[in-house]
Amino acid sequence: MILVTGATGNVGGQVVAQLLEGGFPVRAMTRDPGAARLPSGAEVVRGDLAAPHELDGCLDGVEAVFLMWPFHTSDPMAGILDVLKRHARRVVLLSSGAVKDGLAPERHADHVGRTHADAERLVRESGLLWTMLRPSTFAANALWWADQIRAGDTVSGAFGATPMAMLHEADIAAVAVRALTEDGHDQACYLLTGPQVLTQAEQVRVLGEALGRPLRWRELSREEERQRLLADPSFPDSFVDVLLDGYAGMLDGPAPAVTRTVEWVTGAPARSFHRWALDHAGDFART
Ligand SMILES: NC(=O)c1ccc[n+]([C@@H]2O[C@H](COP(=O)([O-])OP(=O)(O)OC[C@H]3O[C@@H](n4cnc5c(N)ncnc54)[C@H](OP(=O)(O)O)[C@@H]3O)[C@@H](O)[C@H]2O)c1
Repeated sequence: MILVTGATGNVGGQVVAQLLEGGFPVRAMTRDPGAARLPSGAEVVRGDLAAPHELDGCLDGVEAVFLMWPFHTSDPMAGILDVLKRHARRVVLLSSGAVKDGLAPERHADHVGRTHADAERLVRESGLLWTMLRPSTFAANALWWADQIRAGDTVSGAFGATPMAMLHEADIAAVAVRALTEDGHDQACYLLTGPQVLTQAEQVRVLGEALGRPLRWRELSREEERQRLLADPSFPDSFVDVLLDGYAGMLDGPAPAVTRTVEWVTGAPARSFHRWALDHAGDFART
């Protein structure tokens, strides 16, 4: 049995679907089974990573865990690993490409990198077999533009020149499935990227090509974008400055290097951002 946390999310949802396709028994965890729309082949279980002492019931008979990290701190990790160790043998952690090898967690300048580096440290020290997935920017972040694209042909945002190696969630999941179900991935750190680097402004153009509509980018100042995101009830306020700091850092830093890790692990090349946009065209469609 494989436990998938974050099963209602971008990556976890794909992990559940691909494990089921492969014929593996899946237990999908969510805080709200009543609201979650999970595939009928999965066993659905209620669980909250913020309450590790309640997780034993989710882990009965579990061999391997896909662990996604929904917090802006690594604080609950030690408690979660204590429970995991009582049941499972293997954990695959959805970490972040912001984690830098050889740099202590507290020396990571950006918040996301610091949190994930500390979470990785605790997983390494847990005694479990582990695999770290360090994905680049998710293509699914473009869903944050869906309201704007449904309403018109302009996407407003800040840091339009920031380059990103947009990664399809199906590719992250495909690597996760290999690591959860095969030997040979233990104690490995996989730096995963999409096949191509695109600035945010270029992503909008590619989205338009896939949707068959001319879309354009409108540059906002950081403060204008900050106010826009704070006014958006669907975007968590606590993540606004974390995100904008991340984009500013990526704009100042070197352009992301593209890796072929997805292909090495799964045998299939990473999907393009254009492919992602075609797969998600319905999310941007006007009703
Ligand atoms: N976006 C990027 O560009 C990027 C890049 C690299 C790494 N990452 C990392 O990827 C992760 C996000 O993955 P995602 O996009 O697949 O997630 P997502 O779509 O944002 O979904 C969030 C998931 O977290 C679950 N969740 C939230 N709080 C929880 C809690 N207290 N206990 C248990 N589950 C909880 C939710 O489940 P329920 O609501 O059903 O309980 C949901 O399934 C983060 O760790 C992020 O740092 C993101």
